[in-house]
Amino acid sequence: MSYDKFYRFYDMVMGDRSDAARYIVNLIARHKPEAKTVLEIACGTGSILGILSASYEVTGLDRSRPMLTIARKKLPHVRFVRQDMTSFHIARRFDAIVCVFDSINHLLRFSDWRKVFRRVALHLKDDGVFIFDINTLGKLRRLASGPAWERWFDRDLAIIKVTGERRGVFKWDVKIFEHQNRDSYRLFHEKISEIAFPKVCRVILRKSKRSILSVRRRRIGRNGSISWAECVTPSVLTQKFAT
Ligand SMILES: C[S@@+](CC[C@H](N)C(=O)[O-])C[C@H]1O[C@@H](n2cnc3c(N)ncnc32)[C@H](O)[C@@H]1O
Repeated sequence: MSYDKFYRFYDMVMGDRSDAARYIVNLIARHKPEAKTVLEIACGTGSILGILSASYEVTGLDRSRPMLTIARKKLPHVRFVRQDMTSFHIARRFDAIVCVFDSINHLLRFSDWRKVFRRVALHLKDDGVFIFDINTLGKLRRLASGPAWERWFDRDLAIIKVTGERRGVFKWDVKIFEHQNRDSYRLFHEKISEIAFPKVCRVILRKSKRSILSVRRRRIGRNGSISWAECVTPSVLTQKFAT
């Protein structure tokens, strides 16, 4: 299962997430001002939830045991559940559900994306909102054609390169060289797969004209391929996606 090696370095590599978390808080405040309860699916190490928990009663869900272990240590006051986002069941509904940092792209079958929308629809209150982002095909292709990302963190080195695409699947090739002593390093190497379904992006953007409350997109390249979509959908629309 992915993140089995990267989990130890995830927070180090991701750095400060407060800008992203504040952006999400603003989206919730704008589209669901009376929201009290928030579920983050694929919450990882809980960095976004930590900031959301100042304003909302939050719950985190992820399927990775080590990512959740870190999240629980960081946020002992928050409830976390280890479940799969394609099949989760929590015996309550939420005002807002959040799924960010291209977590949906980790699901390599389109049928699994639909399952997520279905589970989200079942767990949202009637007028709830679903806030999510996706990496589009354009964004993944751009990353794959670009250079590797390299950064030193004190004496540890992280090198991340997006490679692809084979049958639409891109690999995030993550290498962390952890300093041991003198000039010796231990390598942690993991490949995390992502896929983008252009059809979904088109549907989201088409529907955005009518029902999606907010969508941001960036256009790059000559053909104007969409780089990244961020959406807020009311639950009624989430249900439409799921069918
Ligand atoms: C890029 S991380 C994002 C974590 C967090 N949302 C953040 O912004 O830092 C992707 C997360 O998705 C989780 N994930 C991937 N597939 C999943 C699935 N089917 N069900 C639940 N979590 C999943 C991984 O374990 C990982 O924690």
